[in-house]
Amino acid sequence: MSEKQRLLSGMRPTGRLHLGHQRVIEYWAQLSEKYEAYWFTADWHAITTQFDNTEQLRDNRREIVIDWLSAGLDADKCHIFHQSEIKEHAELHLLFSMITPLSWLERVPTYKGQVAAFAEQGKDITTYGFLGYPLLMAADILMYRPVGVPVATDQMPHIEFCRELVRRFHHLYDTRIFPEPAPIFSKIEILPGTDNRKMSKSYDNFISLSATAEEVKSKVWSMVTDAERIRKTDPGHPDICAVYAYHGFYNKDEQPELCAACKAGAIGCGECKKKLTERINAFLEPVRDKRAYYEQHPAVLDEIIADGNDAARSEAQKTMAMVREAMRL
Ligand code: TRP
Ligand code: SF4
Repeated sequence: MSEKQRLLSGMRPTGRLHLGHQRVIEYWAQLSEKYEAYWFTADWHAITTQFDNTEQLRDNRREIVIDWLSAGLDADKCHIFHQSEIKEHAELHLLFSMITPLSWLERVPTYKGQVAAFAEQGKDITTYGFLGYPLLMAADILMYRPVGVPVATDQMPHIEFCRELVRRFHHLYDTRIFPEPAPIFSKIEILPGTDNRKMSKSYDNFISLSATAEEVKSKVWSMVTDAERIRKTDPGHPDICAVYAYHGFYNKDEQPELCAACKAGAIGCGECKKKLTERINAFLEPVRDKRAYYEQHPAVLDEIIADGNDAARSEAQKTMAMVREAMRL
C-alpha cells in the first residue's frame, strides 16, 4: 500500500446519504483500488453550522460510515476515520491560524454565500469557527500530505486556499514538507432531484440510501413528470420529466423504449413510475442488506473505524513532528 500515491477526502456527517451521494461513494471505491485512500467524517466541520444542535452528531457520523460501506466502500482497501478522533487536526489548525491573514478567509467565496444563506433562515453563523472552515479543511488535507483531493467543484475555493497556505508555510519556514494537493473532479453525471431541481437536503427532493421499499415507492410517486400530460394517450415530453431522467440512471436499457412510448402516448406515467420504483428498489436491495449487517454487527463497524483512526493517527503524528521541526517548536 505504501508505494501507492495518497488521496484523502471527507464528508460532513449531517444526515443520511442519498442516491446522489451513491455515485460519489462508488467513485471513492474505484479510487481506493489505485491509491492509498483516506476517507473521513468531518464531524468538527459539521459543528461550524450546527453548533446549536450537536446531539445527533455521534449517530450521524456512524450512519455515514454505514452508508459508505453499504454503498460500495471496501474497508479492506481504504482507511476510514473520524476527524475529531485525530486531535492533531486541531493542533495543525491552530498553528496554521497563526500564519493565515484574516483577509484570506474573508474572501473565500463560500463564506459570504453561506453566511447569507443561513441568515435567510434566521441563523447567524458568523463565528470564528465558521470563518476558519477552509483553514480546518486545509489542516485535514495537509495532515496526510496527499497528492490529490477528490471533491465536488463547489469545494474548489477551499482547495485553492489550501494550496496558497502551503506556499506561505513553505516560504515562512523555509521548508517543503507539503505537496500542493490537486483537486480531483470525477466525471460523474449528476442525478437531478425528484422534482427536477438540483438535489438538495433543503428541498427534500432526494431518495435516501436507507429508504425502505415503501419510501422509494412514495418518493417516485411524487416525482415531477410532464405536467401537461393528463391522459395516457397525450404525447409526453420525457426531456422535462424527472422520472425519465432517473430511468437513464437505473434502467438504462429500457430508457429509449420508454422515451418512444411516452412521446407516442403509449405508456401512462403510473406504469412508467412503477417500473422505476422496481428498478431503484432492485438497486437498493444489496445496499439495504449490507446496512442491516452493520447494524446487527456494531463491533465490526467499531473495529473498521478504530483501525482507520489508528492508521490516520500514525500518519498525523509523523506530519506534526515535521511541522514542529519546521517551525522550531
Ligand atoms: N468541505 C467538505 C464538503 O463539505 C468536507 C471536508 C472537510 C473535506 N474537510 C475536508 C473534503 C478535507 C476534502 C478534504 O464537502
Ligand atoms: Fe415521464 Fe414516464 Fe410520464 Fe413520460 S410516461 S411523462 S417519461 S413519467
